[in-house]
Amino acid sequence: MTKKIVVLGSLNVDNIMKMPRMPLEGETMALTDVTTAPGGKGANQAVASARQGAEVSFIGAVGSDANGQFMRATLLTNGVNVDAVTTNGDVPTGSAYIMLQDSGANTILIHGGANQALTVADLDKTMIADADTLIAQFEVPLDVIIAAFKVAKANGVQTILNPAPAVYDLTPELMAVTDIILPNETEAQLLSGLTVENDEAVLNRVSDDLLSQGVSRSVITLGDAGSFVADGQKRWWAKPNKVKAVDTTAAGDTFIGTLATVIAPDFSNLDDAIHRASVASAIAVTRAGAIPSIPTSDEVEAFK
Ligand code: RIB
Ligand code: NA
Repeated sequence: MTKKIVVLGSLNVDNIMKMPRMPLEGETMALTDVTTAPGGKGANQAVASARQGAEVSFIGAVGSDANGQFMRATLLTNGVNVDAVTTNGDVPTGSAYIMLQDSGANTILIHGGANQALTVADLDKTMIADADTLIAQFEVPLDVIIAAFKVAKANGVQTILNPAPAVYDLTPELMAVTDIILPNETEAQLLSGLTVENDEAVLNRVSDDLLSQGVSRSVITLGDAGSFVADGQKRWWAKPNKVKAVDTTAAGDTFIGTLATVIAPDFSNLDDAIHRASVASAIAVTRAGAIPSIPTSDEVEAFK
């Protein structure tokens, strides 16, 4: 049966600035290329799920501008239902400014625009209640995420939280309605106050901390070091797939969208799901742009 996924999240047009390295304060530096691509953590995760074969619906907002039309069209082209994507005439569509270094590493600045103007009234509660899984990130207001997760849990819908960027505290109210949380290393550090640096003892402490707050599973994604997984019974380090990085943008989003598509309702196949998510995200790292870099399920199969 095809999995029904609802993504509550952001839609951004990414302005990608290619540079040999990060500029210093006060420096003027030439870019080697400037491009745009569709992105936004919400949109990236939705497209990743759709390309892995899920039936995906999106809850979010765009402005009444060309970027909004572009993002709406991008979701539609990828087979994502946009019935719950609203148009807000008062604010621009979300945008991101990505400093992409030759190494493939990125630093991202975002302007929330319509994403930040989303309200609880914009939630399609029936759409959430009918889903198998609900995914959210932290690029839309926290009260909207909590309201959506409460509807999900009241209707037996699995909830996946990507606390990215780490701009909100993990409140007990939110953690109580979250089934699995997936921060990356930077977010895990910001949320826990600990320096992670791939240190297994610290990763265990951060995982303990997350689980003690009420979620039953955590996955800390560590880029080219793989990911650190914890559930009530055990902890394990899922090894990475070695690839040459071109652009790491949307690698984490591809991981989450893929995991959401293949994970069982009771998380019994977590290890397999993580393996597949790692492969999908490794492929995304080898390609430029956010949404343009996300692989299909055939491409993931072929990589294995
Ligand atoms: O996770 C990558 C995404 O973060 C980019 O596409 C950008 O839009 C920001 O939302
Ligand atoms: Na990419």
